[in-house]
Amino acid sequence: MSEHSRLLGAFVRRPGRTGAIAPSSRELAELMTAEMGLEAADTVVELGAGTGVFTRLIGERVRPGTVALAFEIDGRLARELDGTISGVRIVNDSAERIADHLKAEGRGAADSILSGLPWASFSRELQQTLLAAVLGALRPGGMFATFAYIPAAWLPPGRRFRRMLRQGFATVETTRIVWGNVPPAFVYRCRKA
Ligand SMILES: C[S@@+](CC[C@H](N)C(=O)[O-])C[C@H]1O[C@@H](n2cnc3c(N)ncnc32)[C@H](O)[C@@H]1O
Repeated sequence: MSEHSRLLGAFVRRPGRTGAIAPSSRELAELMTAEMGLEAADTVVELGAGTGVFTRLIGERVRPGTVALAFEIDGRLARELDGTISGVRIVNDSAERIADHLKAEGRGAADSILSGLPWASFSRELQQTLLAAVLGALRPGGMFATFAYIPAAWLPPGRRFRRMLRQGFATVETTRIVWGNVPPAFVYRCRKA
């Protein structure tokens, strides 16, 4: 089955949780993984791996010995991805439990967290819970990247999420828009104080 069909299947099962009908483009994946310090990181976390578009690039960029965990809540997507990307362990659990899984790996905090979660589809409560989990699991000075679709980023849930990022992080940068992605998207690149 193609990556498109697999993500579409997940969207049919849980639309609000999946938040996309097509995997991210290679160009968006390159932008997501750039300037995140992956090559020097000891601990990297991905949230919402889906069909593994970002996961594969993470696997290519991290050093041997880096602990890299990719969370995917959908059991079918997680099973299909499991064992296919060397250097990255797939975790079939919610991103809410990042800290527990890092602890099980003997790590206190992550250097970099990359998110493919559909934040603009989430309620305020879920946005708060998941962002608290991210901030709690990231070391001081650590990097967080997540993408936002156009135009969802400008609608109330997307604007609320942007305000939460600005409250939680010392710096929040927005990248250029990747117009070739479906839908077009940009990346928020944030540094924890
Ligand atoms: C928009 S898709 C992105 C998939 C992939 N990263 C990409 O960019 O093509 C969002 C993914 O996040 C997963 N997801 C949603 N909520 C989650 C949670 N709380 N914990 C882990 N994964 C979650 C969904 O199952 C879905 O696969």
